[in-house]
Amino acid sequence: MSVFRTKSVEQSLAAADEADHHLKRRLSALDLTVFGIGVIIGAGIFTVTGRAAQQYAGPSVVYSFILGAVVCGLAALCYAEFASTVPVSGSAYTFSYATLGEIVAWAIGWDLLLELMLGASVVAQGWSTYFVTLLDQLGITWPASLGPADGWHFDLPAFVLVAGLTLLVAKGIKESLRVNLVLVAIKLFIVLFVIIAGIGFINRDNWTPFIPPSAPGAKGSEGIHAPVLQLITGVTPATFGVLGIMSAAALVFFAYIGFDVVATTAEEAKNPQRDLPRGIIGSLVICTILYVAVSLVITGMQKYSEIDPKAALANAFVAVGKDGYATLISAGAVAGLTTVVMTLIIGATRVTFAMSRDRLLPPGLGVTNPNTGTPVKLTLIIGAAVAVAASITPIGTLEEMVNIGTLAAFVLVSLAVPILRKKRPDLKRSFKVPGNPWVPWLSAAMCFYLILNLSLETWLRFIVWMVLGFVIYFLYSRQHSRLATGDKWTEAERDAVP
Ligand code: ALA
Repeated sequence: MSVFRTKSVEQSLAAADEADHHLKRRLSALDLTVFGIGVIIGAGIFTVTGRAAQQYAGPSVVYSFILGAVVCGLAALCYAEFASTVPVSGSAYTFSYATLGEIVAWAIGWDLLLELMLGASVVAQGWSTYFVTLLDQLGITWPASLGPADGWHFDLPAFVLVAGLTLLVAKGIKESLRVNLVLVAIKLFIVLFVIIAGIGFINRDNWTPFIPPSAPGAKGSEGIHAPVLQLITGVTPATFGVLGIMSAAALVFFAYIGFDVVATTAEEAKNPQRDLPRGIIGSLVICTILYVAVSLVITGMQKYSEIDPKAALANAFVAVGKDGYATLISAGAVAGLTTVVMTLIIGATRVTFAMSRDRLLPPGLGVTNPNTGTPVKLTLIIGAAVAVAASITPIGTLEEMVNIGTLAAFVLVSLAVPILRKKRPDLKRSFKVPGNPWVPWLSAAMCFYLILNLSLETWLRFIVWMVLGFVIYFLYSRQHSRLATGDKWTEAERDAVP
């Protein structure tokens, strides 16, 4: 059996109706948009923006955000078309199973796991940093690290956060979304507060030069830390200038990650064909406007070289003597980052759920609990893995690794759109990418361009992760796949084979 075997769209749709692997359809367009904003606005704007401005782009980080938005906007159109055509749990994984073949689908599923689980762990550590900062601002001292022995680090706040959220997610998606709604409202308020309160403190001199001159060989830009594109083309590794804008774009891309996670909940949407495109594109547009405004304000309040690379938003206000505002912003970040971690955990469980239903992972993992309507066992396993990664490993700055995983999935999803159009012109598509195949191809090319702007170190780590994935595929998934053991299809799915 070829590793490029595909699972038909009809089989994917029929699998969603299987009794013990079934998710409840309860989410509206508003729920999906809130879900999207809940996962998009997070460590990206609260921490990565400062680092990108200070180390790579200065005020021109605004251009990096715009470039990131264009890349994500194109990919979002492709995701929206797929989600409206194959509204089944699993997002890019399911889409590619229907078009590019099993091995590609496996690679994407494995890749999405990296994005979602590592993303959750990275943001949980960011949350912990803000939490400790907040306690500090309130006059409570928290030990930097708890552990039984020297050299053994244990991040207790990150652990407690992930454990609590995992239980909530296991209990039911509607309940988790209710908590999400409150936290998202607080987060939006804080971001608007930064923009409105910050405008009065803008000093236009800080925007000159808007694009700082290129600085060859600057710290952090040489050897395996240099972007792959700069290494291939042989230019001297540099930060700032136009190259800096590109490197910063590849980094702040992290801030946009999440709109694609909306597609992972396709099976839980009441009217997925209409509402998924709305939820995906709506949340992306809102976040882009906010990000451009925040980055203009932050680079206007402080000279870029003085921006705090860890907690830029809060400390910009400390720098202008508004410590009280900084405390408020830290509190908002604590609330805001909570929803990101929760939503990424939900996304990870939904992707592995789809993979286990296809038997690429053991089927017992994905069984849904009749009371909660959620895959409880899988949620607990994912939660445990994220809790361990977030509390005992030093992964706080691996945003780039999350980015490469996500961008790789975007490339494949974009390429898959024209393929599915050609293979299955008959399918009902409530939302269509305009300008097919050029727009999807442009989307793939731009995502790949951003990947080229990530460091060699990030590429090497990503390659190791993917090799591990292929080992599992060839040792387990290939033989157990439902496409290999056709006899395990349910009645509904067998009837669906076109
Ligand atoms: N976009 C999410 C964040 O910025 C992952 O935290």
